[in-house]
Amino acid sequence: METNIQAEPKKRILSGIQPSGALTLGNYVGALRNWVQLQKEEQYESYYMIADLHSITVRQEPKDLRKNCMDLLALFLACGLDGEKEPIFFQSHIPAHTQLGWVLDCNTYMGELSRMTQFKDKSRKHADNINAGLFTYPSLMAADILLYQADLVPVGKDQKQHLELTRDLAVRFNNAYSDTFKVPEPYIPKVGAKIMSLQEPTQKMSKSDPNENSYILLLDPIDKIVKKIKRAVTDSEARVCLGEGKEGVENLMSIYSAMTGKTMDEITAEFDGKGYGDFKAAVAEAVVEVLRPIQEKHADLMKNKDYLESIYRKGAEMANYTARKTISKVYRKVGFIQP
Ligand code: TRP
Repeated sequence: METNIQAEPKKRILSGIQPSGALTLGNYVGALRNWVQLQKEEQYESYYMIADLHSITVRQEPKDLRKNCMDLLALFLACGLDGEKEPIFFQSHIPAHTQLGWVLDCNTYMGELSRMTQFKDKSRKHADNINAGLFTYPSLMAADILLYQADLVPVGKDQKQHLELTRDLAVRFNNAYSDTFKVPEPYIPKVGAKIMSLQEPTQKMSKSDPNENSYILLLDPIDKIVKKIKRAVTDSEARVCLGEGKEGVENLMSIYSAMTGKTMDEITAEFDGKGYGDFKAAVAEAVVEVLRPIQEKHADLMKNKDYLESIYRKGAEMANYTARKTISKVYRKVGFIQP
């Protein structure tokens, strides 16, 4: 047994996003912004990953995938993640993800994978390409997490089922081969306004929505962002407050709140007696104020490929160090001869 002479060890956080297209304002508020916050808190150590291996479960144009990967890395940094101190890395740069993925595949039941709602959804959406990778996606995701012995995994609701499976796999492996993996907890942020579609505010804002006026992309040109907000669906009451049938206004209020930190009550008071025109102008201004500096930083970073390269190389080095320790333990425990 190692003795721990340090104080409380830091809790480790791991999360990832797929580089399969542009990020929305919803991704920023629901994920990236919280990651930045968590990284600033001293009690955590964080690993943030660009899940490129996962993204090819859906057909990707290689040239677009390359561009999306670099864009996402630059966005991570532009949003304030620190890749100098803690790893930001590409999943494909760490061989142990696929190595552990295979071992976990052999410990995951077909029945478990068939029950995953994301698999069912994606099979419906990509009926012409229901590949084996799409099916085993969750055990690769479990490998992502278990490799780093993560304590906490910040994820949206749609990933909770995958996290449950990750926990089951960790426990199953630990029981079969002795204690190896930390059993991770999901981390659902305390305050995380859910950003809905600007056109159908009962549905989540999503970049796969065919109507591009329904979402705001982090890299949308500023005038486009303003236009999209001006066109957002409201109601005929012309009052900025919560209420039945006012989902559109409520969503704009949530966006305004997420951008400014004001509460719903404060927002209601601020726009008392004012119309939707004024309100939308204020929402647009608040969004632009947050996104403009991110876009500028992103544009600068994209001009500095050497710097981006130094970040992902450093990230891979740090991530590899941790990942290799876990995979060699796993290989030994399942009975492989040490090379
Ligand atoms: N499946 C996640 C998503 O689509 C992305 C992801 C891959 C991930 N590996 C992960 C998230 C590990 C958290 C931890 O959103």
